[in-house]
Amino acid sequence: MSQEQEFLSRLASAHSQALEGLQSIAVQLEAGASGDDESINASKLTQEFNVWKERYVGKKAPVASLKKELGLLDPASRRHAGAELNRVRDELLDRAQELGERLVSARLGTLQSSSRIDMTELALDSFRGHIHLITQTRDELEDVFIGMGYSIQEGPEVETDWYNFEALNIPPDHPARGMFDTFYLKESVRGTQDGDRPSSSSSNKLLLRTHTSPVQIHTMSEYKPPIYMVAPGKVYRRDTPDARHIPIFNQIEGLVVDKNITFADLAGTIESFTTKYFGQDIHSRLRPAFFPFTEPSAEFEITCAICSGSGCRTCSGTGWIELGGCGMVDPNVFEHVGIDPEVWSGFAFGFGIDRCAQMRHSLVDMRVLLANDVRFLEQF
Ligand code: DAH
Repeated sequence: MSQEQEFLSRLASAHSQALEGLQSIAVQLEAGASGDDESINASKLTQEFNVWKERYVGKKAPVASLKKELGLLDPASRRHAGAELNRVRDELLDRAQELGERLVSARLGTLQSSSRIDMTELALDSFRGHIHLITQTRDELEDVFIGMGYSIQEGPEVETDWYNFEALNIPPDHPARGMFDTFYLKESVRGTQDGDRPSSSSSNKLLLRTHTSPVQIHTMSEYKPPIYMVAPGKVYRRDTPDARHIPIFNQIEGLVVDKNITFADLAGTIESFTTKYFGQDIHSRLRPAFFPFTEPSAEFEITCAICSGSGCRTCSGTGWIELGGCGMVDPNVFEHVGIDPEVWSGFAFGFGIDRCAQMRHSLVDMRVLLANDVRFLEQF
């Protein structure tokens, strides 16, 4: 059996087990409602349903662990497998939502018939937590890229100078370091346990990563091309917080390395991601820029979602908002990780997850994302 077939058959069996569990709760609910089985009560079923949710749509569900394994498939199969995974997950979530609602009304029904309800009593809102807006945005972005055949990678938040700068073609004293106001760690030399890291002490200096681009280096050191990956995560800069900057924010990095990859592939990928995530009315455009690790480089902008492109204060009247940077991987970067630039080519991109949340939900001030004010968070 090919790796893809094996993946799909595990997905199918997780899918049918999940459906069976759900079906059994639905049948019992039906039997209870029609009075065929008096011993069935809605709150017991709700407990059973919660256990089901934990097992099949929670963090440890088979679908969630299969998502992590997507990266092991070859890129050609990954797109199909990723789309199938998203379809199964969406179906389970939809069905769970529907059954959840039926259970709530069944419980209300039982309450009304079994006790007299004091309609004047003040109902206290029960408060349930949920996933933070940034995590929701990150999950949705991951899903869009999984559907396009990408795998998800992670890298450390404490990095060495080599991964964060040098391997990305930013040697010490390069003026481009000025783009990143870096937090260095005091005890800042890491030992030489990582084989691929040069041992000079400046390269081993420790810092909080200023961008997710070092995950490109980790990925290319670990895997042979073809590579199609995205890497979401936290990054740190010594910025003073204001309406458009926060010192701890989230980026998502993308990297493709394959044969005959061109700038047109990059532009097409960005446009396709933009319409998939933001909807058909939002488009992207690329403008020339400079990043040391890509050549040529571009900034990419999307239609300002707040004014739909007609011009407003947030987009300074231009109708466009900058989301991130991108470009063709610089041959020097390939050489640092032992990939032959004569054989392979690739593109990379990186953009702000928080900025995506800001655009999608028209947030005027980004500081709300860190303030943890429940009155804000509960709206999403
Ligand atoms: N790392 C850059 C930043 O944080 C963004 C970026 C630009 C990432 C160009 C890329 C790229 O992968 O190709 O400002």
